[in-house]
Amino acid sequence: MSDAVIADDPRYKKMFDVRLEGLNSGHLIEADMNGKFGSLRESAPVHPGYLRDLMGLPDTHHNRYATPKQGYSVFSFDACNAAFRDNEVFSSKLYKEMASVQATFGGSILEMGGAEHRRNRATLQPLFLKPKALTWWRERWIDDIVKTLIESLRREERADLNQQFCARLPMQVVTQGIGMDGQDALTFREALMTLMGANRGTPQEKLGASQIIETLLGDLIARRRAEPGQDVVSGLVATELELEDGSTRPLTDHEIMANCKLIILAGGGTTWRQLGITLWALLSHPDQLAAVKADRKLVEPAIEESLRWNPTDPYFSRVSTADTVLDGVAIPANSVVDICLGAGNRDPRRWTNPDAYDVHRPAIGHLGFSIGPHQCLGMNVSKAEMMVAINALFDHFPNVRRDPDAPEPALMGHLEGRGMTAVPVLLT
Ligand code: HEM
Repeated sequence: MSDAVIADDPRYKKMFDVRLEGLNSGHLIEADMNGKFGSLRESAPVHPGYLRDLMGLPDTHHNRYATPKQGYSVFSFDACNAAFRDNEVFSSKLYKEMASVQATFGGSILEMGGAEHRRNRATLQPLFLKPKALTWWRERWIDDIVKTLIESLRREERADLNQQFCARLPMQVVTQGIGMDGQDALTFREALMTLMGANRGTPQEKLGASQIIETLLGDLIARRRAEPGQDVVSGLVATELELEDGSTRPLTDHEIMANCKLIILAGGGTTWRQLGITLWALLSHPDQLAAVKADRKLVEPAIEESLRWNPTDPYFSRVSTADTVLDGVAIPANSVVDICLGAGNRDPRRWTNPDAYDVHRPAIGHLGFSIGPHQCLGMNVSKAEMMVAINALFDHFPNVRRDPDAPEPALMGHLEGRGMTAVPVLLT
């Protein structure tokens, strides 16, 4: 198993590269977006217009939704918070109109609303609660994978933690956590990304990717139905879905597959990028790095602060289900509402000196995992991964610091996903 975690496989470089992610999505944004987010937020909490257009980006997504819609964008903390929480009016069913989502994990909880979402999310929720993340996930997968990665770093004097550490941990945790062999992690993720990517893969390649996914997941579900183990698929095979009339039934293969694909896609890239952002934030603020190394109670605030300061996914979209008014702006029914949580997270009405990274801030809720009914299902697992990883790094490499001879890395990507180009360090 440890071979898969540290394999010298060129696909790592190809699949965990924020520059390539940007190019594949059709719009690489190398510049920091926070300045523009801030000026939009300060001119109005809610603007007519798609976020993409307000940011002055090329219109690569004109046919993103099945039917044409007007766009609105939300920037203040209060308005983002209100829109995320009111999932009846600002509905996630927009995902049903997105071809890339439907091709990859159509039918997952991400696109559901109301009671249907609550009942379906309840089949997964027990596996992702905080105590489960800190025991089951940690003891079964996170600790071992971190240990293997740290052992392999011990052979190096310098490293790119983004590639050698941050990318490998979450991909292996979610793949093995589902119940799949770690050896299949890269193959499975590559196939999912081929299906998802707008500019990636010919129709033939997409068909091949779809077959790989159906075979790997289908075989796993069949094996666990015959003989349950200790993993997410086994948990889903054993659980019952409550129906509208109060009766229950087992989940279908299709339901299990859709949510497992969502978990692997949502859990791999996000934690990779956020862990890299957190580590680079610390490495670039030597006083705070020293404080966190000396007092490990600050590791969790350091992670929360990075999720506030530079959340890897700075916006999510909803569709309005009725004529409504958000912070004084009338939004007609059937409009797309781009909720820019990256701007909300730096709202000066909620945080003092919001553009600064500061691990000593009082803990008040941010929107890095969103909020409301669709708040990230995997946030406890993700935080457990990042906490174990950062603590292990500081335990084994107390001198870890920026590599002064490496090219300066940058935070970039596309509008939906941002991360570090590298996290170059000296380890000894
Ligand atoms: C730093 C890492 C992560 C970030 C920043 C993040 C962020 C988010 C956000 C903002 C949402 C809300 C999407 C929406 O409202 O449309 C979300 C949903 C979700 N996330 Fe995460 N996520 C992370 C890690 C993970 C991990 C590790 C997993 C699984 C192990 C995961 C699984 C999910 C799932 C299943 C949903 C859908 C929840 C629902 O629709 O009810 N995420 N995530």
